[in-house]
Amino acid sequence: MSVPTYDALKLPSHVKTILITGAGGFVGQKLTELLLERFPSLRIITTDIIEPPTFTSDKSRLRVVKADLGDASQLNGIMSGGSEANFELGYAVNVDSHVALLEAAHAHAKATGQEGATKPVYVFVSSLAIYGGPKCRPQDFVVPDETPLLPGTSYGVEKNIIELYAYDYGRKAPSTAASSFMSGVIREPLQGIPTVVPIASGLDDDMLDTMGCYVTRFKTVIRNIAYAICMPESKFKKGESRSINLPGIKVTPRQMLQALEEHGGPEALKLVSFKVDSAVLAICETWAGDYDSTLFQSMGFEVDDKATGYGLAVQDFKQELAAAKK
Ligand SMILES: NC(=O)c1ccc[n+]([C@@H]2O[C@H](COP(=O)([O-])OP(=O)(O)OC[C@H]3O[C@@H](n4cnc5c(N)ncnc54)[C@H](O)[C@@H]3O)[C@@H](O)[C@H]2O)c1
Repeated sequence: MSVPTYDALKLPSHVKTILITGAGGFVGQKLTELLLERFPSLRIITTDIIEPPTFTSDKSRLRVVKADLGDASQLNGIMSGGSEANFELGYAVNVDSHVALLEAAHAHAKATGQEGATKPVYVFVSSLAIYGGPKCRPQDFVVPDETPLLPGTSYGVEKNIIELYAYDYGRKAPSTAASSFMSGVIREPLQGIPTVVPIASGLDDDMLDTMGCYVTRFKTVIRNIAYAICMPESKFKKGESRSINLPGIKVTPRQMLQALEEHGGPEALKLVSFKVDSAVLAICETWAGDYDSTLFQSMGFEVDDKATGYGLAVQDFKQELAAAKK
């Protein structure tokens, strides 16, 4: 599959309004744009601690709410996620906000008599950081059903807590799932900005060839998150996990650098330097490099082409940069 397809994006008939949290962020903005484009009669509410962008002046289609979702008093039926910059903040944003949002969605469903097929759909963007432990080193291929969840970071623990919590609420909602250098190594040099690769000491470091990075073209991620909203609940096997590993492809840091040179030329590559940061390396060593997504593909989630997917992702970003300059 080299391009995401959209024909399978059909919202369940009871979904008339979608709340998007973190809507000012990387994923939230693109998801809002896709949903606005695909579903003309859908009402969307976007929220973020910063004012999310207004993509349309039609207030009946998009309402923008600025709110701190770590502050339950601002809730009124909403909530979101963020980062683990510090322990307390990580839990407030990644756990407490979802606990409050799930409670609010549950109370709303109860008050309006939404149950069974008409209950609210809750799509939580999790992370591969939920795995970890001896079976998840960067050289490993993860088979989800055979891999214990032993997260090596607070971020992974927080995501894990909410996967289980959302699953439990859903019984009585589908769940979906890197370190910044992995995107920075392309994003920064293509804009003329120097970048540091913190997992290798130089171009001759073996880590550039042995480390697997599980990545997905951004267009495919957004298509798949929208599909998680649309997917019939019957695609989940009874009694089995509600967690979905969004299909990705394995690339090595060396392949990333090759793609950078191909699309940005030798001058882009010159902007990359290497300095091992043991704290970053320790985190990356708790993530596996590849994951079995056969089951999730059979449910309708799409995967990038192994040979061309990464190059296409870099090309997409170059086009975005060119469009932003116009
Ligand atoms: N980008 C990835 O590669 C990736 C991978 C796995 C999981 N995720 C998850 O996907 C989600 C979105 O990621 P992203 O890349 O768009 O991140 P992002 O940082 O671009 O966006 C997150 C948004 O959340 C908002 N936010 C933070 N704290 C808030 C609060 N207290 N109240 C309201 N809003 C708040 C921020 O202002 C930001 O706009 C996150 O939950 C992240 O953990 C992302």
